[in-house]
Amino acid sequence: MRHSIIVTFAAACAALPTLPASAGDAGPSVERGHTVAIVSGCHDCHSAGYMESGALDPATALAGAGLGFRGPWGTTYASNLRLVAAERDESEFVEHLRTLKTRPPMPYFNLHAMPEADMRSLYLYIRSLGEPGEPAPAAVPPGEEPTTPYIVFAPPTMPAG
Ligand code: HEC
Repeated sequence: MRHSIIVTFAAACAALPTLPASAGDAGPSVERGHTVAIVSGCHDCHSAGYMESGALDPATALAGAGLGFRGPWGTTYASNLRLVAAERDESEFVEHLRTLKTRPPMPYFNLHAMPEADMRSLYLYIRSLGEPGEPAPAAVPPGEEPTTPYIVFAPPTMPAG
C-alpha cells in the first residue's frame, strides 16, 4: 500500500513542468523588473520625487536623484541606475549587485539577498526605460557643505565614511 503511494507520487512529479524561478514568474522579464523595483524600494531613492509622491515618472524613473543623504559618511546621492545598467551586460549587472558595497543609506546588504532571476528582470526593466541621462551629483565628503537640498541622518551608531 505504502509502496504504491510512493510510486504514484513519483509519477506525478515526473509529469510536472519545470518550476518557475520565482513565484508567479515564468522567467526574467521587464514586467517582473518593474514590480521588483517598486516592491524592493529602488524607486524610493533612485527615482527623483517618487518617495514624496508615489507617482512614477517614466522620464526620471531610476535615473538618480539630486536630494542628498547627509550623515557621518558625508552626503550621498542615489545613483543613476540607468547608467549603471548601460555600462554593463546582464551578467555583469548581476555580479555588480551581488558584490556591491556602498555608503549609507543604500541598503546594499538587502540587495545581496535578491534572487538572481529578479536581478535579471531588474536589468531588463532598467534597460527598457530609455536614455540613461546624466549621473547623480558626486558624493560630498564628511564635513563639507553640499550645494543641493539634503536630508540629515544623524544616528549616533552609524559608521563614518
Ligand atoms: C534609502 C535609499 C535607497 C534605496 C531604498 C535604494 N538605494 Fe541604491 N543607492 C542609494 C544611494 C544613496 C547610493 C549611493 C551610495 C554611495 O554613494 O556610496 C546608492 C547606490 C546604488 C548602487 C551603486 C551604483 C553604482 O554606481 O554602482 C546600486 C547598483 C544601487 N544603489 C541599486 C539599488 C537597487 C537595485 C535598489 C532597490 C533594490 C536600491 N538601490 C535601493 C540609495 C538607495
